[in-house]
Amino acid sequence: MSLATLLILPLLSIHQLLLPTLAYLHPTLRSPFQDLAVYGLCPKTTFHSSPHTPPTPNIVRWNDAACSSGSILASFNGPSVPHPGPSIFTASGELVWHSNEYGVAMNLRLQTYNNGPVLTFWAGEKAATSGKGSYYILNERYELVRKVDVVGGELFGDLHEFITTPEDTAILTVYNTTIADLSGMGLARGKESWVTDSLFQEIDLESGELLFQWSALDDFDPKETYMGQPLSGFAEDSGFDSFHINSVDKHPGSGDYLVSSRHTHTLSLISGEDGEVLWVLGGAGNDFEDLSLEAEGGSAIEFRWQHDARFVDAALLPIKLREYGDEEEGVYYVSLFDNQKAGPLHRDAEQSRGLILRLDTRDEASMTAEVVQSFTSTYGTLAGSQGSVQILPPSPSL
Ligand SMILES: *[C@@H]1O[C@H](CO)[C@@H](O)[C@H](O)[C@H]1NC(C)=O
Repeated sequence: MSLATLLILPLLSIHQLLLPTLAYLHPTLRSPFQDLAVYGLCPKTTFHSSPHTPPTPNIVRWNDAACSSGSILASFNGPSVPHPGPSIFTASGELVWHSNEYGVAMNLRLQTYNNGPVLTFWAGEKAATSGKGSYYILNERYELVRKVDVVGGELFGDLHEFITTPEDTAILTVYNTTIADLSGMGLARGKESWVTDSLFQEIDLESGELLFQWSALDDFDPKETYMGQPLSGFAEDSGFDSFHINSVDKHPGSGDYLVSSRHTHTLSLISGEDGEVLWVLGGAGNDFEDLSLEAEGGSAIEFRWQHDARFVDAALLPIKLREYGDEEEGVYYVSLFDNQKAGPLHRDAEQSRGLILRLDTRDEASMTAEVVQSFTSTYGTLAGSQGSVQILPPSPSL
């Protein structure tokens, strides 16, 4: 027996035998031990009655009175997940439903279509930072009622966004590699370089007709990007992803679109009438004065690599924030997930944060942005990719 084996064997038996036994006797140890990979890198739950093997959730902290008892929608994928697909769990982590009929899925959501509740998700081929696939709408019996595709022969449905609207239209994102001017962006990039454009479409779900389309390259110069991509721009299969659209929301009143761009650090409002950029929050072309720069919640405009920007109905703000709840035209409440990190190359803070902002655009000459609330996770997570913020209805017992 080699010296290395002699050293590893006792450690392995502690990790694989002693710790699981301790957790069996003291169930409160399960959660920290799961983080120490005592149960493997991606612990799975198995069933006698079903072939599904969903990842075992690790509940880090729980409060019966304050935590929402609603279901959790998730779509796992990656090398440790043998059966990727949309999944639903109870709040305590038991599997309610999972499908492996659609392959790799993302962005499972509960939405409304034809006046009824539906499940929606994207499924298809996942590329490094986007995807090529279609969108699926399932009814309450988990039956497929509609498969939605992007309009335009050469285009593919991207995984980042798929929302339905009260008018039974859908908004989705598209990544399209094309030629654009990257001269001055270093590494001998020229006037004709490969750029991955960010688009979104609004489609009528009944007829499939394209109602609206916007392209980031029309309004945002690739030079406004913060993303370093030393190997991109030179070949068609590795376009320079200067904008990286990752969410679109439609304002219920004005019909304008809120677009989040991870790589320019901007939220922008796009006119639903003519596609014009009405304002830009954050990034190189920021239009707002920051009222929170020195405040406790941190800056309202210095979010970085953010995801999931949504209009928030002021009436649904938590009670202690109601003082803010003015619903005048031109005042917006917006939630977003402020990553502050992107991949291994960019790290701008110690933790990611959830943010609720108040944007006052009533006076075009002096628009202001303010942090209404900011929150970080129990674990101080710094997420280099993805993330979301949802405001849940208040717990009935509070
Ligand atoms: C997508 O890119 C191609 C070039 O590769 C271009 O011809 C086409 O117009 C683009 N489509 C849209 C909708 O921008």
